[in-house]
Amino acid sequence: MKIVIINGPNLNLLGTREPGIYGNKTFEQYFKDLESEFSQIEFDYFQSNIEGELIDRIQKEGFSCDGILLNAAAYTHTSVGIGDAIKSIDTPVIEIHISNTFSRENFRHKSYITPVAKGIIVGFGLDSYRLGVESFLKS
Ligand code: DQA
Repeated sequence: MKIVIINGPNLNLLGTREPGIYGNKTFEQYFKDLESEFSQIEFDYFQSNIEGELIDRIQKEGFSCDGILLNAAAYTHTSVGIGDAIKSIDTPVIEIHISNTFSRENFRHKSYITPVAKGIIVGFGLDSYRLGVESFLKS
């Protein structure tokens, strides 16, 4: 099984960015933990601050891997293009958020990903990604 994790803008700053909301761990550290916990899975990880690069990556991975865990970060709330990209591929996408977006500002309650995602995992800290992996393993 191959699972690709795609992270959007500002998630490269995890570990130092608003630690009260997003925690103290870098994604690179967390990614290593995931790889050792699920050694039977082939993982790939991509992060970009650029909307078009995220769409390119969704298109590139979306016909070959078994699942995509997508945290589109701020683009979740604005990007018709990322929503359309998810509709255009074969691979199921799970929408991931570290924080509980529904307990935050109103503009974070709208998602262009949710209607086209297989499901959403929101608000469990970095553990949201692990729960997404578990879900793909069981489906
Ligand atoms: C986020 C929530 C978004 O609203 C925010 O813009 C992010 C991170 C999360 O994982 O909690 O950058 O996607």
